[in-house]
Amino acid sequence: MMRLKSKRVVVTGGSSGIGRAVCELFAREGAELVIGDIDDVGGAQTMASIDRDGGKASFRKTDISNEDDVRLLVEFAEGELGGIDIVMNNAAAFVFGKVEDVTRADWDKVMGVNVIGSANVVRFALPHLKKSNAGAVVNMASVSSFVAAPAFVPYNASKGALLQLTRSLAMDLAADGIRVNCVCPGAIYTPATEKHFEFTGQDRGEFFEQEANESFLKRFGTPEEVAFAALFLASDEASFITGAHLVVDGGATV
Ligand SMILES: NC(=O)c1ccc[n+]([C@@H]2O[C@H](COP(=O)([O-])OP(=O)(O)OC[C@H]3O[C@@H](n4cnc5c(N)ncnc54)[C@H](O)[C@@H]3O)[C@@H](O)[C@H]2O)c1
Repeated sequence: MMRLKSKRVVVTGGSSGIGRAVCELFAREGAELVIGDIDDVGGAQTMASIDRDGGKASFRKTDISNEDDVRLLVEFAEGELGGIDIVMNNAAAFVFGKVEDVTRADWDKVMGVNVIGSANVVRFALPHLKKSNAGAVVNMASVSSFVAAPAFVPYNASKGALLQLTRSLAMDLAADGIRVNCVCPGAIYTPATEKHFEFTGQDRGEFFEQEANESFLKRFGTPEEVAFAALFLASDEASFITGAHLVVDGGATV
């Protein structure tokens, strides 16, 4: 259907999981992509997959918690694409724990990537988004933006902030014609799920059954199911939607 035909998109965290599925789907829908991620091996795999499908994408190794890296990513995107219409803030650091387990360095990491990094991608891309006639930002928030979970303090606090960043940006950037929304996935099976499982120290069967059973649909979601929600919010089909969060959790938080 080419729902993003000729749209110039910057995606962060496109080397794995949900971000890779977003890149693959956006490219199939006609977007031209620049992908920024700290993982260049995974980035090459995403690029190869897009290339096999006949899509167009470039990769730049980027740590979004580093301001210079973000500025260089946006300059690279300008060079590759000639402008930016859509920012897809998907990269995240997964820092779990109870408040007494979390160090200042842990807080700096999780807030530096998930909140400040995402804000800085918008900040540097803003001159380009303003020039676009279809400017849109999609942030990958989480059901963790509004529900608590045991020993999830830093990650949940960062995702709560990302939801509120989305709403605040939606208000401020509306005058420039830029829409800002977020997707809130529930339990989606990705490499990050394995990190979470290892952190809990639970029995594997028990962990995966418990996570799956939280949804009405009694299963994990797939990265592709999240990518379709991001596609809708990024596309012109969502032209009267801003400041919204779209939950993709199989009913878990209902
Ligand atoms: N998997 C889930 O159940 C789930 C649920 C809710 C929300 N999410 C969100 O979806 C997004 C993708 O998560 P995922 O499950 O695909 O995880 P993932 O670990 O597979 O992918 C995360 C990607 O972000 C990249 N990244 C990490 N730190 C970075 C940094 N500083 N700069 C640039 N890139 C960086 C990683 O290299 C990786 O490619 C995240 O925002 C996550 O919070 C995931």
